[in-house]
Amino acid sequence: MASKTAIVTGANTGIGKETALDFAQRGARVILACRNEEKAKDAARDIIAETGSDKVVVRILDLASFKSVRAFAKLINETEERLDILVHNAGLFESYKVTEDGYESSFQVNYISHFLLTLLVMEKLKKSAPSRIVNVSSIGHASKGAAFQLDDFKLSKDKFNGFVRYTQAKLAQVVFTKELSKRLEGTGVTVYALHPGTVKSDIWRYWPFLEKPYMKPLVQLVMFLLFKDCEQGAQTTIYCSVAEELEGISGLYYSDCRVKECNPLAKDPGLGKKLWDVSERLTGESWTN
Ligand SMILES: NC(=O)c1ccc[n+]([C@@H]2O[C@H](COP(=O)([O-])OP(=O)(O)OC[C@H]3O[C@@H](n4cnc5c(N)ncnc54)[C@H](OP(=O)(O)O)[C@@H]3O)[C@@H](O)[C@H]2O)c1
Repeated sequence: MASKTAIVTGANTGIGKETALDFAQRGARVILACRNEEKAKDAARDIIAETGSDKVVVRILDLASFKSVRAFAKLINETEERLDILVHNAGLFESYKVTEDGYESSFQVNYISHFLLTLLVMEKLKKSAPSRIVNVSSIGHASKGAAFQLDDFKLSKDKFNGFVRYTQAKLAQVVFTKELSKRLEGTGVTVYALHPGTVKSDIWRYWPFLEKPYMKPLVQLVMFLLFKDCEQGAQTTIYCSVAEELEGISGLYYSDCRVKECNPLAKDPGLGKKLWDVSERLTGESWTN
């Protein structure tokens, strides 16, 4: 990957950090797109120490703010010669919050801001083709409660359930992957969605189970015994980003480095178009061919 540039959102920890480490080991220029500068610099130092790379850089990106997404994209467009791989990895589930843009935060961080960032750097991706966009979703996207309401992205507190909301945003990522792949036909830019596995990472920090002191050791034991570590959890992201056999393939959902069935809702072209239209309206950014 010596001639390639990759962005990984949420690369200061967990699956994103392992993904960035792997890209650096392969010789890529790697941009750690993170909200917390101190944590991101620590991660960059670790990656540089392990790989010897002089091509790992930190750029600030807070996905809970459209202003921050726009500033980040502007910097990338003005300062980077190319963009070969864009990994939408950052994600979280947390308690109810409203962002400065007025949207429920987990939906904005997991999905809408990644939609906006994609559109803002699209020209760079097209110029660097063949290039790839990788959406780190979750198996939770296929759960029963994941069907989201297109007219309710602000969502009031009384309708909020953190885990359900997370799965809705993860379904939106898969629907987006399919719709985007159609719009990108013939451009050389391909797009993938994936489930990384169940991974021991910081994502579980707001899990209600862990707030109960007596549950904490038990949950930690289960995680230790049954969950993937972050390096294992990064493998499907890395596969979708670099595997030569995926050249030209687009719009599919992966887990354990294999194509898997996704929620049938994601295959509904009507839903893909509607989500796209709403996302354009919410972000104020339009698709140009
Ligand atoms: N772990 C699992 O079992 C699992 C399962 C299915 C899917 N996933 C998905 O895998 C991806 C990576 O998760 P992980 O397990 O590695 O979790 P993690 O260790 O919690 O990492 C999440 C990353 O997202 C960043 N992030 C959160 N809010 C952000 C914001 N507003 N702006 C920018 N970055 C933000 C975090 O930054 P801070 O450190 O500053 O908070 C962190 O770098 C997520 O999309 C997650 O939904 C994980």
